Amino acid sequence: MSMKNIVITGGAGFIGSHVVRLFVNKYPEYHIINLDKLTYAGNLANLKDIENAPNYEFVKMDICDFDAFYKLMQDKKVDGIIHLAAESHVDRSIKDPFTFARTNVMGTLSLLQAAKLYWESLPEKYEGKRFYHISTDEVYGALELTHPEGIEPPFTTTASSAEHHLAYGDKFFLETTKYNPHSPYSASKASSDHFVRAFHDTYGMPVVVTNCSNNYGPYQFPEKLIPLFINNIRHRMPLPVYGKGENVRDWLYVVDHARAIDLIFHKGKIADTYNIGGFNEWKNIDIIKVLINTVDRLLGRKEGEDMDLITYVTDRAGHDLRYAIDSSKLQRELGWEPSLQFEEGIEKTVRWYLDNQEWLDNVTSGDYQKYYDNMYKDR
Ligand code: NAD
Ligand code: TYD
Repeated sequence: MSMKNIVITGGAGFIGSHVVRLFVNKYPEYHIINLDKLTYAGNLANLKDIENAPNYEFVKMDICDFDAFYKLMQDKKVDGIIHLAAESHVDRSIKDPFTFARTNVMGTLSLLQAAKLYWESLPEKYEGKRFYHISTDEVYGALELTHPEGIEPPFTTTASSAEHHLAYGDKFFLETTKYNPHSPYSASKASSDHFVRAFHDTYGMPVVVTNCSNNYGPYQFPEKLIPLFINNIRHRMPLPVYGKGENVRDWLYVVDHARAIDLIFHKGKIADTYNIGGFNEWKNIDIIKVLINTVDRLLGRKEGEDMDLITYVTDRAGHDLRYAIDSSKLQRELGWEPSLQFEEGIEKTVRWYLDNQEWLDNVTSGDYQKYYDNMYKDR
């Protein structure tokens, strides 16, 4: 591909920062523009190691600002967009759905329309251009616990054992699964996915969409389960487990998501969709026990001594029971597979948070305490 100037939106966030780092280091011939509004979830400290790279530039911008983005497309002669900027936390979407509709739906539409106007004004039009939209498995709704009789998660399976599960009547999200979002977050992501596909079908824009499972790893804002609980275990604060802790999520190490994004941005088929996931399902309560054991061990405490921090609290409204993604198409067609086993990934992750207390202190200063009190006070 002859692309050169690539905008990565949401590059100061959790997944975005890993994508920016990968692209800046791997593609010195690209000019990488990290476009981010720096909301509570965006933090330039996530990119300290590459901030002075000659092929990297940061632009503070709201993706809803159509005029500013249209001008940036022209000024920087943008060929490719990898769109990660979003409001991303389900609990926040339950309290404030408008912000999610604004950023995730209107913001995505604004980028699409600006890209369309600019690319259509060029002699080559859409030739060599790409709009890559990053979405979530949550748009597919929720699955039942239909695992084969007697088999309980964790399932650290493979694409071929997914076939085995399917043969026993288990269900996974496929690329063809009908959208059925339940939370304001997933509804806003579903809507943005539809707009992206509509820009292909209506105007011929070269788009690609991926739907990924839950990510974990360094630089995740401590409102999400894994970093929040690591931080609370360290400080011996209660661990607010929603409902009975029976919900199942499918976890992927964030660097493996970034690797998949790189591959799909360059080799994915235009107008196609790829599911990304690690065949790695865990019940929340099981993962929480792994976190407690790991933090305790790494801090030199007696392994498991902090189990009494587990505190069952009121369930999340509309809490999706199970997410499980079948990513075998990506494996089959583009040869991607996760590089890390979960045990290795979670050990690295816990170590990172314990070694980077300063980063945690930094992102939890400001409004964080207010957020925490407000989110957990009625549970
Ligand atoms: P995040 O909340 O950590 O980061 C979001 C980033 O977007 C932040 O840097 C924030 O400042 C920026 N942003 C928010 N609103 C903006 C606006 N109006 N204009 C410009 N920038 C804005 O999110 P994340 O977990 O890194 O997720 C990134 C993307 O991946 C999202 O689109 C999300 O839906 C998707 N996704 C996330 C997961 C996951 O497990 N975290 C899984 C699948 C898909
Ligand atoms: P989260 O990290 O918010 O991701 P998502 O809701 O997008 O899957 O939550 C992961 C799971 O952990 C989910 O089932 C909700 C549960 N959870 C808790 O039990 N307690 C908490 O404090 C949080 C933040 C999440």
